[in-house]
Amino acid sequence: METGWLLAILLFFHIIPRNAAHIVGVSIGVGIGGGGVHVGVGVGNAGSGGGGDGGDGWMGGGINPRIPSGSSETDLKSAYTALQAWKSAITDDPYKIMDTWVGSDVCSYKGVFCADSQDSDSGPVVAGIDLNRANLQGTLVKELSAFKDMSLLHLNSNRFNGTVPDAFSDLISLHELDLSNNQLSGCFPKVVLDIPNLAYLDLRYNSFYGPIPEDLFNKKLDAIFLNNNQFDGEIPQNLGNSPASVINFANNKFSGELPVSLGLMGSKVREILFLNNQLKGCIPQGIGLYSDVEVLDLSYNSLMGHVPDTISCLEKLEVLNLGHNKLTGELPDVVCSLRSLLNFTASYNFFSGYSEACSKLFFRNVGFDVSDNCIPGKGMQRPEPECSMIPSGSLSCLRIPAAQPLACGSLGDLLESNSSGPKLSSSP
Ligand SMILES: *[C@@H]1O[C@H](CO)[C@@H](O)[C@H](O)[C@H]1NC(C)=O
Ligand SMILES: *[C@@H]1O[C@H](CO)[C@@H](O)[C@H](O)[C@H]1NC(C)=O
Ligand SMILES: *[C@@H]1O[C@H](CO)[C@@H](O)[C@H](O)[C@H]1NC(C)=O
Repeated sequence: METGWLLAILLFFHIIPRNAAHIVGVSIGVGIGGGGVHVGVGVGNAGSGGGGDGGDGWMGGGINPRIPSGSSETDLKSAYTALQAWKSAITDDPYKIMDTWVGSDVCSYKGVFCADSQDSDSGPVVAGIDLNRANLQGTLVKELSAFKDMSLLHLNSNRFNGTVPDAFSDLISLHELDLSNNQLSGCFPKVVLDIPNLAYLDLRYNSFYGPIPEDLFNKKLDAIFLNNNQFDGEIPQNLGNSPASVINFANNKFSGELPVSLGLMGSKVREILFLNNQLKGCIPQGIGLYSDVEVLDLSYNSLMGHVPDTISCLEKLEVLNLGHNKLTGELPDVVCSLRSLLNFTASYNFFSGYSEACSKLFFRNVGFDVSDNCIPGKGMQRPEPECSMIPSGSLSCLRIPAAQPLACGSLGDLLESNSSGPKLSSSP
């Protein structure tokens, strides 16, 4: 999956002025830890993979800033005004980065990167601002909207608080907005949806709260990181519209049920991370339409009922985490038979058994954790009293209307689709 991501990210750079390319590095980190798989993609700085919690040093410097050929360009003059306005809104700067923000040559400022504008006569323009791990305290100012040519704004691991200024909608060239690991708050900053060319949105590790707008999934974003905030409310029903390859909503307070029409055919999502929210109800059959998904983590929620057989449509699935829910029934053979599976966590549920293909996972060297369930004869299970009080044991997930007929080839013989929706074979 790393290769695919690299490609996706590199695609962005086609649109970035050529001279800016050398300032951009790509790093991808995948870490597994506390409560679930955590997959992070960082662009432009070393080691932002996990979203970071606290930089231990200034990492954004040391990249050759470009010396402008002409210093009297009006663009750079307005850049100067904007950066000075931002500087005055910065209240703490432990690495003394702002000490370099003096004079009219903004291209020599630490963290500010210039490139020749596409219109070659008009000299250099600010193509990116990368202050990742600068540990700056302050706010984001509306004057930043002056950077009409800026394609990257990377502010990971600082102490910016307050909100995202509405004027950010003027950032017409911005492709990547990384505000992760700051102290931003307020409702979902809807202004990001008005940034016309935004492709990468990273708001993780902030204090945003409240519901997220439906339009988020209609926007052509390639990556949506909202994890580790305080977002709540239901996940909008049009989730399946999103063309994103990574959707990370982990560690928020989303509630309600997963959207019924979870995946649309043609969805290219590779990673769906909904762990540690307050989701309840069944896992919808539509999950099987996310045919490219490689990581599906629904752990630490309150999902109930049986695991839908349609998960077996996810032929590229490598990591499946259903742990810490209230799921019941037997683990379907068709799911355990998934060929790409590397790690299947089903612990801390109320599963009553699994059959042969699942037993074979142990021999296939697939991580398979079924501890703390209700599987007779198996070690490390829940004590009997807990198992006799299976939560909502009668809740049936077999009759959820499917959004559209399932077209997953490998399921054809299992699904008897007709107008009343697919019927799945169920365990007793
Ligand atoms: C499988 O995933 C679980 C949960 O994310 C993790 O704790 C475990 O270490 C993983 N196992 C392997 C073998 O990767
Ligand atoms: C931002 O942080 C500063 C310094 O800690 C504080 O004085 C200010 O009230 C904060 N503003 C918001 C909106 O949280
Ligand atoms: C379609 O549904 C009806 C009623 O639910 C059922 O009797 C019938 O067998 C189903 N047809 C197919 C082809 O599965």
